[in-house]
Amino acid sequence: MAASVGEVLISSEQLELRIQELGSQISRDYAGKDLVMVGVLRGAVVFIADLLRQLEVPCEIDFMAVSSYGSSRDSSGVVRILKDLDDSITGRDVLIVEDIVDSGLTLNYLMRNLRARDPASLEVCSLLTKPERRRVEVPIRYTGFEIPNTFVVGYGLDHAQRYRNLDYVASLPEDSVPTL
Ligand code: IMP
Repeated sequence: MAASVGEVLISSEQLELRIQELGSQISRDYAGKDLVMVGVLRGAVVFIADLLRQLEVPCEIDFMAVSSYGSSRDSSGVVRILKDLDDSITGRDVLIVEDIVDSGLTLNYLMRNLRARDPASLEVCSLLTKPERRRVEVPIRYTGFEIPNTFVVGYGLDHAQRYRNLDYVASLPEDSVPTL
């Protein structure tokens, strides 16, 4: 374990098993559809790479990068697109792949933005969700794990751009958690 992270919340074995289950479910639901997975940079990179390899249906991937104004812990809901999709999603079956849904503000913005491009369908798959922190309700079709209100890192998630490389999800000790 990395020296400065706290308790392991989700082990690499648990992640692997759950992602296999999600992959089977998504493969069943999207059989015969025109699936485009939209990964939200940078946190969802590790998750989307593993999820993709569990799919048994044809799919494409594309990426968006967004930044949310506000402190590192609290998003404001004002979102700026840093990188847009490369391809059109009009008429296609879009699945947004997120690392974590916290307040829900970023995802709420993304869904409104992508819905305006007239996809055939628009759903969300998030590895983690913190329901206690929700400020706006967002429909998450596929969830990996519900976690308590604690700041987590690893498996793509960062604190100040570090810890993304851990193959498990861990909490950060209180003294390293970004201030509210
Ligand atoms: P929301 O708009 O508040 O739902 O924030 C979503 C984004 O905040 C996620 O995509 C993450 O980038 C970041 N985030 C929220 N909670 C955590 C956490 O516990 N660890 C790392 N990043 C987080």
